[in-house]
Amino acid sequence: MSLFQVEGLVKRFGALLATDHVNLGVDAGEIHALIGPNGAGKSTLVNLISGLFAADAGRVLLDGQDLTRLPMHDRVRAGLSRCFQITSIFREATVRDNLLLAAQAHAGSSFGMLRDRRHERPLADTAQALAERVGLAAEQHRVAGTLPHGAQRKLDVALALAANPKLLLLDEPMAGMGPEDSERMTELIHTLKRDMAILLIEHDMKAVFALADRISVLVYGKVLVSGSVEAIRGNPQVQAVYLGTEDTTGAPA
Ligand SMILES: Nc1ncnc2c1ncn2[C@@H]1O[C@H](COP(=O)(O)OP(=O)(O)OP(=O)(O)O)[C@@H](O)[C@H]1O
Ligand SMILES: [Mg+2]
Repeated sequence: MSLFQVEGLVKRFGALLATDHVNLGVDAGEIHALIGPNGAGKSTLVNLISGLFAADAGRVLLDGQDLTRLPMHDRVRAGLSRCFQITSIFREATVRDNLLLAAQAHAGSSFGMLRDRRHERPLADTAQALAERVGLAAEQHRVAGTLPHGAQRKLDVALALAANPKLLLLDEPMAGMGPEDSERMTELIHTLKRDMAILLIEHDMKAVFALADRISVLVYGKVLVSGSVEAIRGNPQVQAVYLGTEDTTGAPA
């Protein structure tokens, strides 16, 4: 049994079946990449998993716990954390304050809300560790919105890590990055693998092939095929989907 599983997940937007009975698992220590063309339903699936959207049918299970009906914050508490396709940092706050806020949000009620967060030793230590973990230790005094794009994405990852997830959902962490930043983000994600399972949504195939233990291809809300990097790389159906020449019903073209 996988650490994480979705079973028969369905989401409709009016007449559109955006998530079509999806089954997907992520094992402990695994990076499972989810790829697919624009509009395939990748972000919708992440939104269903994280609890931003309510599923019309199906189940979301993490470590034996049924999360399907839990609100977002309870899913985070259960060990599920996410990064958004669009960076969700507090742009006007410093890197340090972003990290302190995230550390405080996940520290529980033992910290008084009205006390200066900077004077809370354990929170400061957590913030420092998070900054180091994503390679932003030297940038902590900077206002987050003034950081280069790649550093903002790293901060976004750090905010998700503050929850100490068992499963991290990453929705296009390389979005808008040049090759150099992509490379660094790939290295960072690789280091996270030690401590958590990851569901990685990404269009950057270089990153996907470098990181994934398993790849699933989503097309029109359905998992078309799942397999190892080698299997997916050599799959003619997948190649056709990416070249836009495939009839995804499986009928001969
Ligand atoms: N809140 C919503 N209301 C109505 N339709 C939506 C909503 N969110 C997504 N959709 C539709 O659902 C389908 C899947 O969209 P989704 O954003 O999940 O795709 P995606 O695979 O993440 O695409 P991309 O690679 O461009 O990020 C699209 O047809 C989209 O227009
Ligand atoms: Mg998306």
